[in-house]
Amino acid sequence: RDELLFSYNGTLYPVTICSPETFRALESFESRSDDVILAGYPKSGTNWLSQILTDLINISEKKTQDGESGVNDEELEFPYLEVGDAKKYERMTKLRSPRFMVTHLCPENLPKSIFKNKVKILLLIRNPKDLATSFYHFSNGLSILPSYETWDDFFTDFMTKKVVWGSYFEYLSKWNNYADEENVMTITYEELKENPVVGVKNIAAFLGISVTEEELQLVVERSSFQSMKKNSQKTHGALGNVLFRKGAVSDWKNLFSEDQNEKMDKAFEEYVGGTKLGKKLKYEVYCK
Ligand code: A3P
Repeated sequence: RDELLFSYNGTLYPVTICSPETFRALESFESRSDDVILAGYPKSGTNWLSQILTDLINISEKKTQDGESGVNDEELEFPYLEVGDAKKYERMTKLRSPRFMVTHLCPENLPKSIFKNKVKILLLIRNPKDLATSFYHFSNGLSILPSYETWDDFFTDFMTKKVVWGSYFEYLSKWNNYADEENVMTITYEELKENPVVGVKNIAAFLGISVTEEELQLVVERSSFQSMKKNSQKTHGALGNVLFRKGAVSDWKNLFSEDQNEKMDKAFEEYVGGTKLGKKLKYEVYCK
């Protein structure tokens, strides 16, 4: 595992896609006020939301084409902000607006200019038990991450910050400090799963993008788990099968022991019990 991961400011990252040079370069990244950022811890559904956001941005662009020149991000840059080489931020200055990016980082590790410019951030959160379940299967399916002999081993690492991008509970607790900012909208995996039409509508409104009923239906259909899984070979190559695993709520019930349930319930209470994000996650509904 030492060969696969490195530590930066006390948090682990995969060596194959992240580097200290890139993190240092990121500090001086200049945001634009019309950038759109999706913030979500790994396995919260970031690929799902990326599909929704890029579709919405494309719809909006088609309506407001004003001949602005520039290049399309998708062709040029992997949208995960902290992933890639240190020169990517220079290249990103050539992308046309609005630029779309995704990040797994905590707010304190994001460049200051994002908050200074009040960049719109869609914060995606998922119930911690399903998230850990998804993370476990993902770690075992992806060669750039350590694999685990048992779920118990993974659970221990997950609860003690020994997974990439650090502790999910710290992540939630830190983002909770930003949950009331007007440029931050929070959405949960579970609410989007339960009512994608309303979810997509709210996201569009937050971004100031007007969509017709027909467009809305199309975005919802294209971002359904079934559609994304079907297209995954084309969109994500071999990674597709690992990424679009189950797409369900409550799969954690197949893995957690009583003791693990208790440990997680305690950690949840300790870090985010009673907070805005804690309440939004409806822990009582999805994790009990
Ligand atoms: P599971 O492993 O529980 O199936 P990320 O994109 O952040 O890596 O998150 C991956 C998780 O989101 C996986 O969860 C994946 O199946 C789920 N997911 C991906 N696309 C989805 C969709 N369109 N609808 C619902 N869940 C989706």
